[in-house]
Amino acid sequence: NKMNKNKINKNKMNKNKIDVKIETKKGSMDEWPEPIVRVQSLAESNLSSLPDRYIKPASLRPTTTEDAPTATNIPIIDLEGLFSEEGLSDDVIMARISEACRGWGFFQVVNHGVKPELMDAARENWREFFHMPVNAKETYSNSPRTYEGYGSRLGVEKGASLDWSDYYFLHLLPHHLKDFNKWPSFPPTIREVIDEYGEELVKLSGRIMRVLSTNLGLKEDKFQEAFGGENIGACLRVNYYPKCPRPELALGLSPHSDPGGMTILLPDDQVFGLQVRKDDTWITVKPHPHAFIVNIGDQIQILSNSTYKSVEHRVIVNSDKERVSLAFFYNPKSDIPIQPLQELVSTHNPPLYPPMTFDQYRLFIRTQGPQGKSHVESHISPR
Ligand code: OGA
Ligand code: NI
Repeated sequence: NKMNKNKINKNKMNKNKIDVKIETKKGSMDEWPEPIVRVQSLAESNLSSLPDRYIKPASLRPTTTEDAPTATNIPIIDLEGLFSEEGLSDDVIMARISEACRGWGFFQVVNHGVKPELMDAARENWREFFHMPVNAKETYSNSPRTYEGYGSRLGVEKGASLDWSDYYFLHLLPHHLKDFNKWPSFPPTIREVIDEYGEELVKLSGRIMRVLSTNLGLKEDKFQEAFGGENIGACLRVNYYPKCPRPELALGLSPHSDPGGMTILLPDDQVFGLQVRKDDTWITVKPHPHAFIVNIGDQIQILSNSTYKSVEHRVIVNSDKERVSLAFFYNPKSDIPIQPLQELVSTHNPPLYPPMTFDQYRLFIRTQGPQGKSHVESHISPR
């Protein structure tokens, strides 16, 4: 039909435009398009107004910055007893996860097996890191080529609208990308804590991958295999959202879906901020104590041929409270083609997405910055 055709043509055009941009930007990927300003520095300079670059157009501004959460919350799922010797035997828990992956793309897990002390230590070590003077952190300053290190923007478009956050990005897997020298060395315990935290989250991710796979009627290690088996990727993005002088005009992180496989977020234990899109409203997530927030990324939406949804989310900020969150990304091996699983497609249910490696796929967010769900929506097979 005509409308669909128009949409697909438009998507194709967008896609070409994006390819061209990536090409022209290739030469400059070692540098940011303009000098980097640390949001922490702005926050500490007692500004009376918000610099223009951080002011969102009216349609994108948060509807409320009240941290009182909406009555609705994403599902909270207790994993106690799910991962037993006998395999994944609890049908009620399995069904709740299935529903959450299809309807919300987001859920919280409790009794997930990661020690609360380790979760707190990880977040508080990072908080201490971000509390160091900006100067001390500049040695870890990142570039758009790998994004590893201390950063303050996503995307390389000169003059682009900016988000009210600084971050730190590092690799945990594969082993050849894990480099302690690219991790912070202060506070003194941080490397050890990140290392242990990373190992625990890789284990938890492996278990959740088995659930997601089984829930689609596949053998339990199907997803893991499709991700490249042992050679998957795992990285950590720690977000620091300083106090913001005009939180009603800004966003801590603009709407996006996560480009990778699956994300496990450790939110701040004191401050709300994450909002998830449900139909046309933004739901403020109310974190359960010591829960993790799990969400489906674009690569799992693609593998599942859109049965599981990679859902748009964003972060709002506060004038009197800073916020720290740890986003752990579990990704496919970066150089293998990812496409809908053969078991899930048929002539009646054709594959919605062409094959693409994650290396290629993630160039979009790395050059364009957060753009809602436009990437996965334009990454559609021609009809
Ligand atoms: C992310 C993200 C949410 C948060 O880093 O991709 O969505 O609450 N973070 O910081
Ligand atoms: Ni995200």
